[in-house]
Amino acid sequence: MLAELACFEQRCRARFPIDEAIYNCPECGGLLEVVFTPGGVDTEPWKKLWRSRRTSNEPLEQSGVWRYRELLPFDGHHHQAVTLREGNTPLLDAPRAAQYAGLDHLTFKHQGFNPTGSFKDNGMTCGVTQAIRLDRRRVACVSTGNTSASMAAYSSAAGLDPIVFIPHGNISYGKLAQALEYGARTLQVEANFDQILALVRELADRLGIYLLNSINPFRIEGQKTIIFEMMDQRDWHVPDWIVLPGGNLGNTAAFGKALRELCQFGFTGKMPRLAVIQAEGAAPFYELMKTKRDFHAVAEPRTLATAIRIGDPVSWPKALHEITVTNGIVEKVSEQEIADAKAVIGQCGIGCEPASAATLAGLRKLTAVGVVRADEDVVAVLTGNVLKDPDYIYRYHTGELSDPDGRRIDAKLGNRPVVVPNDADAIAKLLEG
Ligand code: F0G
Repeated sequence: MLAELACFEQRCRARFPIDEAIYNCPECGGLLEVVFTPGGVDTEPWKKLWRSRRTSNEPLEQSGVWRYRELLPFDGHHHQAVTLREGNTPLLDAPRAAQYAGLDHLTFKHQGFNPTGSFKDNGMTCGVTQAIRLDRRRVACVSTGNTSASMAAYSSAAGLDPIVFIPHGNISYGKLAQALEYGARTLQVEANFDQILALVRELADRLGIYLLNSINPFRIEGQKTIIFEMMDQRDWHVPDWIVLPGGNLGNTAAFGKALRELCQFGFTGKMPRLAVIQAEGAAPFYELMKTKRDFHAVAEPRTLATAIRIGDPVSWPKALHEITVTNGIVEKVSEQEIADAKAVIGQCGIGCEPASAATLAGLRKLTAVGVVRADEDVVAVLTGNVLKDPDYIYRYHTGELSDPDGRRIDAKLGNRPVVVPNDADAIAKLLEG
């Protein structure tokens, strides 16, 4: 399909060539999105084609992103695609979590099964491919950890030079370790995510570095495939709700766009509702939806779910649109609620990182007030792998986890390791007791 960049602002809608390296509209400063001029979308043959590609040994077909390339803006450039076989993430039934949330059934789509352990890989494969198409060697991002891990891996795999900016002391070691291991030049800045984004944007302009934050519309295109794959796995049965955590709101923008395109092109007949869950200490989007007034950034966002510790999310205008068109909702949850929900997801044998657990915590609140009904068909997206933040897990289970105000998190579902002597009798007594 013919693809262009378009300004997201309805009063502007200026168009630009797909290979222009811009992140905001040069005319009005609005966000940019990819738009397609559909030429003969064959829904049923394409659905069959996508399904059949799963049995192929070709790298591009094995990718849960590039398999859906008919709905991506890379016609003529597929040979440049950089893939680590991203996507292919499972839908997992979780009866215990469903019960905790007050639902009859609950399915998790677990993006933590991606090559670098988060949903960022779905977007990064496209972002890095666009960098190659534009002949850029240096790429950069600011990150709460997952974007940087993903960018480091994909750009190194492609032979590019990744530069990572992270808030000093405020990302988990698992994620920092990935950036180092994948060979990114890693700069720990003494500022928060929102402040560093402004810095990186200036440096990208000044030094001609390609910016791979989710303001980059090609990242959003890749993240759309999370929804395409989910629908393919569900034989195109549309759920009632899709629940996801909200930080910089790129994923909310991507999911909404995917759902709109599936409807527009005739793959599905109805829209599910999006439910976005934020952490209480970093919930500017929740406040916007509640007050329905102007957007106000949170100057000093605080949450132990460091992945979503963002006070000034760039994609909020897109997210607002997607919540509106899907008749969606935004909820916020406390640190204690996130911690408990995370332990429940662990007890399902599934596990996830703290930000991802906001989904289950939010669902529990939404069913309690009757916004989500027990018999509804709900898919919650777990965004990151359980091993992203082992320090949080250990502290929770040993009763040592405190919230950003220093209040102890109650380890309601704590599972403390026990030190025992090297003595079979003593251990048998303990296990039988
Ligand atoms: N969950 C995880 C595990 C994340 O890493 C992020 C964002 C989110 C949820 C929120 O997604 O920003 O699209 O609303 N992490 C970014 C990063 C900001 O730098 O890795 P969002």
